[in-house]
Amino acid sequence: MLLLIAIKTIRIWWILASLEIKNGLVITMDPARRILKGASIIVEDDRILNVIASSENSTEAPAADKVMDAAGMIVIPGLVDCHVHTVQTLFRGICDNLELLPWLQKYIYPMESAMDSEDVYTSSLAGYAEMIKSGTTTCADMQSVRHTDSAFEAAGKIGIRSLIAKSMMDQDIIPESLQEDTSTSIAESMKLYRKWHQAEDGRLRCMLGPRFLQGCSEKLLGEVAQISNQTGMSVHIHAAENSTEVKNDIEKYGKRTVEKLHDLGLVGAKSLLVHCVHLSDREIGLIAEENANVVHCPSSNLKLASGICPVPRLMQSQVNVTVGVDGAACNDNLDMFKDMKLASLVSKISGQPQVQVSSVSAMNILEMATVNGARALGMQDEIGSIEKGKKADLTILNMRNAETTPMLDVLNQIIYSTDGHAVKTVIIDGKIVMENRHLTTVDEDALVQKAQSRAEKIVEKAGVGKKS
Ligand code: GUN
Ligand code: FE
Repeated sequence: MLLLIAIKTIRIWWILASLEIKNGLVITMDPARRILKGASIIVEDDRILNVIASSENSTEAPAADKVMDAAGMIVIPGLVDCHVHTVQTLFRGICDNLELLPWLQKYIYPMESAMDSEDVYTSSLAGYAEMIKSGTTTCADMQSVRHTDSAFEAAGKIGIRSLIAKSMMDQDIIPESLQEDTSTSIAESMKLYRKWHQAEDGRLRCMLGPRFLQGCSEKLLGEVAQISNQTGMSVHIHAAENSTEVKNDIEKYGKRTVEKLHDLGLVGAKSLLVHCVHLSDREIGLIAEENANVVHCPSSNLKLASGICPVPRLMQSQVNVTVGVDGAACNDNLDMFKDMKLASLVSKISGQPQVQVSSVSAMNILEMATVNGARALGMQDEIGSIEKGKKADLTILNMRNAETTPMLDVLNQIIYSTDGHAVKTVIIDGKIVMENRHLTTVDEDALVQKAQSRAEKIVEKAGVGKKS
């Protein structure tokens, strides 16, 4: 103990940093959106102590415990994925050619119901491993109804920054195995909040997860809004994803989905409204007025034939738009680079109302996946950019490959030419969680084996395997 205090004191006295990443091309995403050639990033414990541009005096850099030479590499802020279901990672590849509601009924509900706590742990760990390997350092993770403690344990172990919500559903259309009473659903969410919110020095946080309007009573949603106001917890909810879903909501309430959520107090600065494919002009206005956040999940929207989120129109209305990969059962990847590329490409499809080809640029997309994501999670002062005082969440890319050569425009090439395989090293909260593509906190081979055998058992137990 005394030795630790002595080391800490000496470190502060000599300003000895924990890590220096030098010579990289740093895409800061700071307010001026500076791109610094040959800069040094100095990390002390979990924070960025300084960002020193090469033109400044390099003697400013204090000696560091570890120096990483990023010559020829690109350093970007760790990516912020605003919607994932790591509980569904073990469902990857299970189905094709289904729309949302039959997909949920035939596969997702039976498979989530079949999982025990070790399955949830394994699925979440496998999802987080894939996300780290593809440069994501923070995610908003909607889990299933039960065993959510296991997801927090997995995030704690691997070192990712995760804001986790248990699914809340109390309606009869949901299978009994995933349905809860309103009071149980609230009590279980609050239990998780007391146990995990701000655990691991703030790296883990708890969100409220009413899964979608159809699955939740008005009473449940009203209470969620109240708790969010009292505790400051964010609300993570699917909204207006599929046209049949919106039609059902109109039949039940006489209102469109987002209008109804607005009446219930769930369209606000603390809300993550996931998908928002089917919006009226009035709903876009409500989202903008209330400063609510939209999560664009292009791969999922295409695979489940849901449609396309009207990103250019939302951007014109100054809505904070972010990116999410959704789950491995409807994507079937958790690689933000792939969804960033699609997010840009689908926004350029001609024939959409008010779309101009130039309206969503590579910079806009990188903003969605970094600073906009940070703001949506209420973490704009902590993550999303490479700036002095922010958390040291960094993704280092090696783009010296045939597939990304020549390097003529770094932003265009990050969005359009590369994918998660370019990620070389990832730092979260100042800790190296992947170095030279080797995960440092988990045994990837053992995880792959366990994920395969657990997935096969879930398929069997849920009775959803191929009938051939
Ligand atoms: N709506 C309700 N649950 C889900 C889910 O698990 N995934 C998607 N994409 N939409 C949903
Ligand atoms: Fe989803």
